[in-house]
Amino acid sequence: MQTLEAITQRRSVRSYTSQQISESDLKKILEAGICAPSGMNRQAVHITAVYNPTKIHTLEEAIQKDFLKINESVSGYQVNLCYHAPTFIIVSASADSIAPELDSAAALENMLLAATSLGISSCWINLLVGKDHLPTIRSVLSSFGVPPQNKVYCCAGFGYSDHLTKERILKPDLYNIVR
Ligand SMILES: Cc1cc2nc3c(=O)[nH]c(=O)nc-3n(C[C@H](O)[C@H](O)[C@H](O)COP(=O)(O)O)c2cc1C
Repeated sequence: MQTLEAITQRRSVRSYTSQQISESDLKKILEAGICAPSGMNRQAVHITAVYNPTKIHTLEEAIQKDFLKINESVSGYQVNLCYHAPTFIIVSASADSIAPELDSAAALENMLLAATSLGISSCWINLLVGKDHLPTIRSVLSSFGVPPQNKVYCCAGFGYSDHLTKERILKPDLYNIVR
């Protein structure tokens, strides 16, 4: 698939089959992530691929546990981290690098587009952002190899969609050209 086609075809998918993506496709996605631009070429981003639904569930349980600790009003709420996508990718970076949030977003978008071009669906997931300091979550992240000095800036689930996506509806006037 051509790049422009991948950009227009990428959609956020929130329901997946249980089919895992192949390891060779996962590596292509990760390579696309590490090829993203980075502020002053610091390459400050670290990418962690959780390629195991059981381990994704471990992280889900940690979020559930820490959530309940900080907010009792969510006691009936069941955390669903990535809509049961079988692969979950965490992008982290050192908070004192030049532009960690932007570097991370650039890496994640590259991976979403690479996945689309391989016929793999994805969805950007914000749930973990701002919660990586909570003790149970941090300990699971550390066990996954997220570097201790890094904050989590963005994440996404990857897998095969179990439905056809609806047409994209865009607001008018989202860009202008000055001549
Ligand atoms: C910074 C950011 C955070 C997002 N967080 C979530 C999220 O937590 N859960 C979710 O289902 N979608 C999330 N999305 C996906 C957006 O909802 C989605 O991109 C938007 O609705 C447009 O749909 P499309 O991606 O299919 O074009 C996020 C997207 C971005 C860029």
